Amino acid sequence: ITHKKLPNGFEYIEVKNGVAEAKIALQGAHLFHYARVGKEPILWLSEVSDFEKGKAIRGGVPICWPWFGFNKDKALPQHGFARISMWEFVCSNELDEKTTVLTFKLTNSEKTLQIWHYKFELELRITISDKLTMELKTTNRDEKEFKITQALHTYFAVSHISDVAILGLDKKPYLNALTYKNEEQEGDITFNEEVDRVYQDVDDEIVLRDKNREIHIKNQGSSSVVVWNPWIEKTKRMSAMQENAYEYMLCIESANAFDDARAIKSQESHSLKAVIC
Ligand code: BG6
Repeated sequence: ITHKKLPNGFEYIEVKNGVAEAKIALQGAHLFHYARVGKEPILWLSEVSDFEKGKAIRGGVPICWPWFGFNKDKALPQHGFARISMWEFVCSNELDEKTTVLTFKLTNSEKTLQIWHYKFELELRITISDKLTMELKTTNRDEKEFKITQALHTYFAVSHISDVAILGLDKKPYLNALTYKNEEQEGDITFNEEVDRVYQDVDDEIVLRDKNREIHIKNQGSSSVVVWNPWIEKTKRMSAMQENAYEYMLCIESANAFDDARAIKSQESHSLKAVIC
């Protein structure tokens, strides 16, 4: 592993082992590149993304925590503060020449206590091997119970949005975040308009089928999955997105969102895990 710094001071860690490579920013413990050796990257990263203090990278895997989506208090950041906070890099372990595990940590500070009134410990373990594993463990270090919503907000790179399908969510109920209606999925998901949905009761593997590859996602500690593509108009309104960006990305987010919010008692933990291959 190598520690790197951009001219503006933005720090990240580069990992290379016998089978894969990855890049993780210290801000947000934000994984923004992962590829198997000799293969195309799995994650999408905006060509015009900011690598700047206080701004979330557009692409990779932002960590939405301790709330997913907007906060009732509109002055607070969308998707929580974890993705724009500086994390501590705890350690890296090379389990063998094909497996590197990196651990990052975030704990409450005066600043976080002002906007979210609980003491916590958040640990992210990223395993870089021939598959990608991310495990986000929340421990309640407060005396009071707290409730979180969260997501590993994975942006996948796709050959073209019209050529992909998501399998594994047939018959699942979902909240359509564009209409706030509850609906039910019929068959595979394909894309020809803006999609922003929170699927519920998900326990099986999800498959992103592209022209020349399939990505398999298996979540643990999660029964909700967000599927999102901003399409044409929303892309124009978004930060750090080129006009045609929506054609080459698709978010499938491993989540605890809406009905799947998790209450965590004092000194107890909850882990949200995604295995992607
Ligand atoms: C998704 C939401 O998870 O994140 C979308 O479902 C939202 O509604 C998107 O637009 C991106 O959010 P942000 O804050 O990174 O622009």
